[in-house]
Amino acid sequence: MVRRMTTPHGIARGLTNYGDPDFALYLRRSFARSMGYSLEMLKKPVVGIADTASGFNNCHRLVPELVEAVKRGVLAAGGLPLEFPTVSLGEVFLSPTSLMYRNLMSIDTEEMIRAQPMDAVVLIGGCDKTVPAQLMGAVSANVPAVQLVTGPMMTGPWRGERLGACTDCRRFWARHRAGELSKEEIDEVEGSLATTAGTCAVMGTASTMACLAEALGMMLPGTAAIPAVHADRLRAAEASGALAMRLALRPQEIVTEKSVENALRVLLAIGGSTNAVLHLAAIAGRAGIDLSLQRLNALSDETPVLVDLKPTGQHYMEDLFAAGGLGAVLRELKPLLHLDAMTVTGETLGERLERQGYVDHRVVRPLGEPIEKEGGLVALFGSLAPRGAILKRSAADKRLFEREGRAVVFTSLEDLSARIDSPDLDVTPDDFLVLQNAGPMSPSGMPEAGYLPIPAKLARAGVKDMVRLSDARMSGTAYGTVVLHIAPDAASGGPLGLVRNGDRIRLSVRERRLDLLVSPEELARRKSELRPRPKRGYARLYWDEVLQADQGCDFDFLRLRPTRG
Ligand code: FES
Repeated sequence: MVRRMTTPHGIARGLTNYGDPDFALYLRRSFARSMGYSLEMLKKPVVGIADTASGFNNCHRLVPELVEAVKRGVLAAGGLPLEFPTVSLGEVFLSPTSLMYRNLMSIDTEEMIRAQPMDAVVLIGGCDKTVPAQLMGAVSANVPAVQLVTGPMMTGPWRGERLGACTDCRRFWARHRAGELSKEEIDEVEGSLATTAGTCAVMGTASTMACLAEALGMMLPGTAAIPAVHADRLRAAEASGALAMRLALRPQEIVTEKSVENALRVLLAIGGSTNAVLHLAAIAGRAGIDLSLQRLNALSDETPVLVDLKPTGQHYMEDLFAAGGLGAVLRELKPLLHLDAMTVTGETLGERLERQGYVDHRVVRPLGEPIEKEGGLVALFGSLAPRGAILKRSAADKRLFEREGRAVVFTSLEDLSARIDSPDLDVTPDDFLVLQNAGPMSPSGMPEAGYLPIPAKLARAGVKDMVRLSDARMSGTAYGTVVLHIAPDAASGGPLGLVRNGDRIRLSVRERRLDLLVSPEELARRKSELRPRPKRGYARLYWDEVLQADQGCDFDFLRLRPTRG
């Protein structure tokens, strides 16, 4: 069992405080026996299983099966598995947006790991915010932990085409908006996009975070890309349960500067989701590590895109699994990785990668023959984004990278939906669409609204992409020349909130610049009052404590201090 396990262990850990430890243990054992456990079972090491099944989370539909398989692994290894519920975040079921509740889930996860008597924990997550929330909580609790993901959905057919959530969701919706797809056809597509259990079928945020969990060393090797419905997924769950019984390292020994940098490399090489920059910053922050956007740019310049998956390429997660999974990517990236980073199995990343594995180079390109020579993401800085902004250049139109444009401003999400399709909207394909008040401090809590739709009259004229700027996020499954996470955000008084219709904005991806071409005197004149904060509940805690995008939108009081060297 766990190397660091000290006595008391199992259910004798962390006794309820009645002022009499013997009484507390006697009472706990008595109540545990009411669940039918023998005394023999109650003497065993306890492995907690964070159970995130929820009727509001389609991506976690098969979590009950995974819990059973994890239990099998724990029991076979001589432990007592005890599952416990936590907050579960189903991406499309939450309002105003799931990101706002990621920190709540991380607090729940951390506190339940710490408060309940477990020697190790298996975290079962999957949908976008659940894996980062669990990793953030686990790093803070620092009890030996292993991440298990639910796995991606399979694709399905529609009229001879292969569909997978959710890049195809957007592609078909854009065609419907442009008048190319009838109401009947889009209704059929709706029924064909997500046809199995599991997370989105492309390299969206969920798949990206699964890959990063494996790259960080927090998940069993070879398990990030196993489809949700594949029998290997259950075998991975069983093996994760068995592994939990022999974990030798704590999360803060695995999530280090080196493993975070490895995860950043992988994020760039897989053309991963922009959301992952936020999540990785938040996870690293829990270990006292600052994730620098300047460092992201330096790594991006020397890390090629190797994986040919939607939304930037053509394949789906099930193809990555068949092509060798994340192990194939890591082996190609080997010369760029910190091979002495530790993993949850107790071996180094280098030791793991000494084992050979299959690779299909149609999906995972060789390091010397990449899809793109540079990484998929870059950070931009300038007078419009003093603390940075993110552009997924691998999913953008390079012809829009060096230009100056006229701002067409939407002051809120409501303003956007009211006017974007108006025939009277004064907009041309060369303009920059600007969305304000959709960042972490806005009432909407930083939704995935940064993928502003192309105004209907331009979409009908065949315009496919425009420069779009906001303090919002974008789904990992989306694409376009979309600058996101502008920090500080508009609602906290950032320059984005001071942009007015007709202002000139300059974008230079080559120079990593994003500048508002308005004089400082004029901007000072425009500075307006901040909005009032919510008065009660989690919303108040959120708005009092949430950090800007460059610090992962974590709560200030949850980051580990002081910064570890
Ligand atoms: Fe859950 Fe996409 S909605 S991963």
